Amino acid sequence: MKIAIGSDHGGWQLKQVVRRFLEEEGLEYRDFGTHSPESCDYPDIAFAVAEAVARGDFDRGILICGTGIGMTIAANKVPGVRAALCHDTYSARMSREHNDANVLGLGERVIGPGLALEIVRTWLAASFAGERHRRRVDKILARERGGL
Ligand code: RB5
Repeated sequence: MKIAIGSDHGGWQLKQVVRRFLEEEGLEYRDFGTHSPESCDYPDIAFAVAEAVARGDFDRGILICGTGIGMTIAANKVPGVRAALCHDTYSARMSREHNDANVLGLGERVIGPGLALEIVRTWLAASFAGERHRRRVDKILARERGGL
């Protein structure tokens, strides 16, 4: 599994923790920035990660900012991306099983690193359940294509 990861300054510290986790797990990833704790604009990073996932260059994306909200809003503007802001493991699992979320949003200022890693672990391990959920996700895709 190839993972695209990104953060703004508000998520920079947590991104270092998540990167270490991905490395320890032997997971392939690319960091789309920001590459320093200096202030930057989260949409720039969100669009880069979301577009890389939408193109199929990466299987999943992880976006971190202060709250995770701005990153998730921006990523969801990219067709083909289903970004889910998850601050508990149940939502993380459901976002995969029911919504086929391909981008995970996290807020460094909302949860601690221990919970964040449990969420990342849960989200990466969970699979889309398909069946009736496929029909529902297809309706979102149809809407994006202007057909609904
Ligand atoms: C930056 O201060 C903060 O606004 C950003 O990290 C994020 O929380 C936006 O949604």
